[in-house]
Amino acid sequence: MSAQPDREALLQEFSAHLDAAQTLDAIHELKIAWVGRKGRLTHQLKELGQMSIEDRRVFGPILNQLKLHMDQALTSKELTFIRLVQQETLEQDTLDITLPGGVQTMGRIHPLMQVMESLVTIFRSLGFVVADGPEIESEFHNFEALNVPADHPARDMQDTFYIERGIHQLTLPNVQDRAATREGTLLRTHTSPVQVRVMEKFTPPLAVIVPGRVYRHEAQDATHSATFHQLEGLLVDKNVSFAELKGTLARFAQLFFAPNVKTRFRPSFFPFTEPSAQIDVSCMICNGAGCRICKNSGWIELMGAGMVNPNVFKAVGYDPGLYSGFAFGMGVERLAMIKYGVDDLRAFYENDIRFLDQF
Ligand code: DAH
Repeated sequence: MSAQPDREALLQEFSAHLDAAQTLDAIHELKIAWVGRKGRLTHQLKELGQMSIEDRRVFGPILNQLKLHMDQALTSKELTFIRLVQQETLEQDTLDITLPGGVQTMGRIHPLMQVMESLVTIFRSLGFVVADGPEIESEFHNFEALNVPADHPARDMQDTFYIERGIHQLTLPNVQDRAATREGTLLRTHTSPVQVRVMEKFTPPLAVIVPGRVYRHEAQDATHSATFHQLEGLLVDKNVSFAELKGTLARFAQLFFAPNVKTRFRPSFFPFTEPSAQIDVSCMICNGAGCRICKNSGWIELMGAGMVNPNVFKAVGYDPGLYSGFAFGMGVERLAMIKYGVDDLRAFYENDIRFLDQF
């Protein structure tokens, strides 16, 4: 026969303990001590099994009621304390909205790419479409088909990065490229080979621009870099005249620099054009009066251009008696330097945030 539980005594003792528990930890301990697996009340409930049926009838409901009461009392005090702790943290973690905020720096498009994008936008508005070609190029496309003779100085190892045979056969996008596998392979020295690729693939009329990266075997200084960017242009149709070339490039210069900018065409030489021209724009810094940027001449060299040489047409299988066209090529870095008055090319590659921030 086990001792009969004293409801009042248990309740009083529990209440006293509950009142004394003044932290969340203390409440948890109390929970374990009374209603946990080995708790006081849990023990009493287990004892019920030892009692006579009559006693069990009497004490069963009493103990169960006590259990319910304790569970509820513990849970409610626990909740009160959780809220209290939350309240305290909220009060301590006040936010000083008068403090200055952290500065969010926004990334932006690199100035060179901004110039490239605006060149593309301008020429698209004039009816040109963008064409693309490989940076690893065949000697045929880079030189041969463009009427650059084998003894031309540009073909010299000093200007061109040649690539060992074998590498290009893996990396050249167009594996059926007969000419490429026969000839040497190189990093394109200009975007002009894409002219050849476009004409090999399409028949006139066509008007394309080719923005892209080119490579030269050169030491780096304020105006030279082993890699830079060009934008090439090619327009072929029947009866294309030099006047159309002039009109197109004069309009381009107005759209890119300023509406009042003047253009000047001087005779020049490129193997892939005949006649060839060097195009200058009036200096937008001094308006033609002469300054440091234009070296006191009032003019700034902009690009090369000309009428497509009949030999280039022959190389791609066009009939030079039927078609004529013009081509031009400009350096993107050079245009960016002129437009923004930057006098050292290296600034574009160093990625100094103080420089880039200005665009
Ligand atoms: N490819 C020339 C260069 O890299 C630029 C050039 C000049 C391109 C005249 C042309 C052109 O299409 O007609 O210096």
